Amino acid sequence: MKPIKKILLALFIVFLVLQAFRPAKNISNNRSKNISKTYVVPLDVQAILAKACNDCHSNSTRYPWYSEIQPVGWWLADHVKDGKRHLNFDEFDGYTIARQYHKLEECIEEVKKGSMPLPSYTITHKDAVLTAAEKESLYKWCDLLRETIRENNPPDSLVTRRK
Ligand code: HEC
Repeated sequence: MKPIKKILLALFIVFLVLQAFRPAKNISNNRSKNISKTYVVPLDVQAILAKACNDCHSNSTRYPWYSEIQPVGWWLADHVKDGKRHLNFDEFDGYTIARQYHKLEECIEEVKKGSMPLPSYTITHKDAVLTAAEKESLYKWCDLLRETIRENNPPDSLVTRRK
């Protein structure tokens, strides 16, 4: 066998072995602390979060077929883990007031900057590319919730001590 063939065969075997190691899936569907427990989430905003954010910021991800192929699956699992750690709409009700207040501000900032949804996500999820009107709805909703939080809580409870 030619060396190049040996190398390709070895790589192929490594690839096959990798398939045996699958990351755990984010499909608990536990929504008991969802943001909608405390705050009103209008239907259009629900739709925006569902198609553009919740795959990485909730307790249930819709997995594409290629997530079954390693190492793609690990790469996706890493995004979900990292995304959930920063912001989880299914755990939002358990956040401190300060954290809620701060995360809502970050939602506006991240979308404005174009950092969210992750650009690597919108390549394969075209419907997650938000229109100007959708972005506007999202910003308005975040602003409204922040206003509600300000009205119902003493000012010092809005200060973030820990991220
Ligand atoms: C493909 C996964 C993915 C999608 C989809 C996604 N995010 Fe993220 N998000 C992440 C990851 C990973 C991080 C943490 C690392 C970073 O900041 O880049 C993050 C961070 C954030 C943060 C920062 C929180 C902090 O503590 O700094 C906010 C806010 C956020 N995302 C909002 C959104 C919103 C709003 C959407 C939908 C419009 C969205 N994300 C869609 C993966 C995602």
